[in-house]
Amino acid sequence: MCGIIGYIGVKSAGPILLDGLRKLEYRGYDSVGMATFEGSGITLKKDAGRIDDVAKRERLGDMQGNAGIGHTRWATHGGVTKENAHPHASCDGQIVVVHNGIIENYSELRAALAERGHFFRSQTDTEVVPHLLEEELRRGNGIEQAVRNVVKQLHGSFALLVLCSREPDKIVAARRESPLIIGLSDHGTFAASDATPFLGQTKHVAYLNDNEMAVLTRGGAAYFDFNGNPVRKEVAEITWKAEQATKGGHDYFMIKEILEEPSAMRNALLQDRKAFTEFAHEIASAKKAMVIACGTARHSAIIGKHLLDRVAGKQVEVMIASEFAYFADNLTPDTLVVCVSQSGETADVLDGVRKAKAKGCRVLSIVNVVGSTLSRLSDRAVYLNCGPEVCVAATKSFINQVTVFYLLAYAMRGAFDEGVTELTKVSELLLKAFELNDARAKAIAERFVKNGNAYYIGRGVNFAMALEGALKMKEISYVHAEGMPAGELKHGTLALIENGTPVFLLNPTDYTYYDTLSNGLETKARGAVLIGVGNKNNTAYDEFIELPEVPEIFYPLLEAVPLQLVAYYAAVARGRDPDRPRNLAKSVTVK
Ligand code: AGP
Repeated sequence: MCGIIGYIGVKSAGPILLDGLRKLEYRGYDSVGMATFEGSGITLKKDAGRIDDVAKRERLGDMQGNAGIGHTRWATHGGVTKENAHPHASCDGQIVVVHNGIIENYSELRAALAERGHFFRSQTDTEVVPHLLEEELRRGNGIEQAVRNVVKQLHGSFALLVLCSREPDKIVAARRESPLIIGLSDHGTFAASDATPFLGQTKHVAYLNDNEMAVLTRGGAAYFDFNGNPVRKEVAEITWKAEQATKGGHDYFMIKEILEEPSAMRNALLQDRKAFTEFAHEIASAKKAMVIACGTARHSAIIGKHLLDRVAGKQVEVMIASEFAYFADNLTPDTLVVCVSQSGETADVLDGVRKAKAKGCRVLSIVNVVGSTLSRLSDRAVYLNCGPEVCVAATKSFINQVTVFYLLAYAMRGAFDEGVTELTKVSELLLKAFELNDARAKAIAERFVKNGNAYYIGRGVNFAMALEGALKMKEISYVHAEGMPAGELKHGTLALIENGTPVFLLNPTDYTYYDTLSNGLETKARGAVLIGVGNKNNTAYDEFIELPEVPEIFYPLLEAVPLQLVAYYAAVARGRDPDRPRNLAKSVTVK
């Protein structure tokens, strides 16, 4: 879950790498570093801390040279320290490496290297790589052959960028499981974890697949497999615009991306009708369909489960992707695996995909990032079309995931056009849900700013929204929020309800209304402060989050907006950065 970037070209690498790292910060932000080749040798600067602080302290933007690599870290092995920040160097400092992924056999490699006299400066898994490369150069290999020999010794996942002072006219890139994309501009060549860091410089890209390398030079890139065989690469064009990956004058990406939801949702409806309908019918006709996803994406899948059942009469199973792997042994080829992922790089999902494909299952994916590993591993992919989502907390991508599930349900009934019409109307009500509740959400968030816990309860399709509302609150404000079925509270958790405990009751006037209301009253009888979320107020509610009237099946989409706002304002009120919550990263590329 780190961000890596490399550049080699006619421009100064320092400013380009630093600007790129700022755009990659959402992938990890506990430490940062850069290395450039400056004339006679490699200069390496790094430290723990946020990019802006380290950049000022180390003057990263002033680093000279036309070739360099950079890294922003989310710690996996070794604490958050200067020594553990990337890049990592060989003993003689002639080779520097940045890495995203996990080298699973690093302990034995490190022990053997230490036996042979190498000294280590960090506790990271990554640092074995420059030392192994150093040994290859001592054997007389060039850096490209050295990389080919070393990657074959590594177990686990990696996206690696290597700069060597003996061959400063190139950067060598290699990938297995962790994402790596090559950017081709008129002034130089980029390699990065995704396209956002160089979107303003070029839209022409090539995607590295597993067990492939690229040799970057000022004029472009050459591609090989790990045996040195040349690989032909198509140059693709990214459709996203650079300004989409900026805050656009808002305080945070999160509020910007919430405000984008109405237009983003309409973009989710811009599907190729034929391909989308085929995608829907493959799910409908599957003997067994399993949907795997993580976090917010799984919550959208649970809503999807209800929609496919209630609207199209198709039952699917939803499973946490990291748990799915433990059921893979008994998978049969007639099981269809459907993946939901904004980034398309979530390791837990990709692990499930690889296991499913090994069992002969077809894999379909609902994904945002075009060209992502998931989209390229899938037999069919449907895209969210919501543009880059930079805030770690998923907002517009969640709305679009749920929208895709609605449209799939309609398409399964042969009513694709009707679905587009109905959902277009709902997209206009998202803004109304925002306008009705922006101030109210801020007031509610500030009322409970001192509370350390909160409960979100609902029934049926609203239970999935309860999970999502709780996750938003947890991940950006650090309040311990729990989402659960309203009917389940009395089987234990009700013991935790006491005077002043905030309970969000997801209760539109749908098929669950009266049962949910009575569960809410059970909490109120024990001192809870009841926050009703729905289209109808009630005297029992201490606070009311009002939703515009819609056909009942669409309420989850409208519930999402105020719940995202409450979490956003709670984070801001508690002095947190909603875009960069502690311990988290946007793309979870490690298991
Ligand atoms: C949601 O706000 C979190 N960022 C997280 O739960 C996220 O949904 C999860 O990691 C899945 O990410 P993906 O959609 O990129 O696979």
